[in-house]
Amino acid sequence: MTQVDLQSYPVWDRPTRWFHWINFVCVVALAAIGTAILFDKELGVTDAGKTLLKTTHVLIGYVFAINLGWRIVWAFIGNRHANWSAILPFGKGYGTELKSYLRALIRGDANAYLGHNPVARLMVSALLALLVVQAATGLVLAGTDIYYPPFGYWIAGWIAAPGVDPSTIAPYSKTGVDPTAWEAMRSFRSPFVTVHYWTFYALLLMIALHIVGAIVTELREGGGIISAMFTGRKILSRKPQDAP
Ligand code: HEM
Repeated sequence: MTQVDLQSYPVWDRPTRWFHWINFVCVVALAAIGTAILFDKELGVTDAGKTLLKTTHVLIGYVFAINLGWRIVWAFIGNRHANWSAILPFGKGYGTELKSYLRALIRGDANAYLGHNPVARLMVSALLALLVVQAATGLVLAGTDIYYPPFGYWIAGWIAAPGVDPSTIAPYSKTGVDPTAWEAMRSFRSPFVTVHYWTFYALLLMIALHIVGAIVTELREGGGIISAMFTGRKILSRKPQDAP
């Protein structure tokens, strides 16, 4: 029997792991509620039910957006695997590394990495970009749909008829609303709805690729990459390319 030397390496720091799992729970909940908002008529949701769905979606959306904002900050101060330099698909030698990784992958002998491998960097960057777009458009929709923060008070002030206190304007009510300003606000909001809608589908696709990518990497390279997002450690039998 051949003996294999296994070595355990610290990889994902605690804040990165917390971000990952809070993000996972929020995205699953937001996608599920978003689907219910999208198919409200088919599901027979009442007007009151729709308002409840949207309010719940927005409240979970705040947790999601704050968690994402925190991860963006952490990418400047976290450990070297959590850092932008280990995430973004740029930087010195990235192109060469990607080519060598792909060549080895095709040979069936992919190089092991502690942090994201060069293909995963493309995937994770795309995922983060889509999450940022979804958070930003969602916050605008929260303001234009149910007048929730951070933009809600300003939006209500925009559509309020002269002399009307913006805080008295209720979602889905035309009382106190200036019809011209209302139309202008709906036109302003329309592209945000479109982007939020298509980013939702793009995210579903990227999430599926992310899960397949993690499973394929685990099978080909080993390292316990899935349990590493719980324990923070990877266990490898080969020296990783990005070893300290
Ligand atoms: C990964 C995160 C998210 C996903 C997957 C998601 C998904 C969706 C989907 C599928 C819809 C229905 C779209 C439509 O009716 O055309 C929707 C609507 C909405 N989302 Fe999100 N969303 C996310 C994040 C957020 C965030 C962070 C907020 C705000 C804090 C937000 C606020 C809204 C609002 C207000 C609506 C209702 C828009 C309307 O009916 O006009 N979403 N979302």
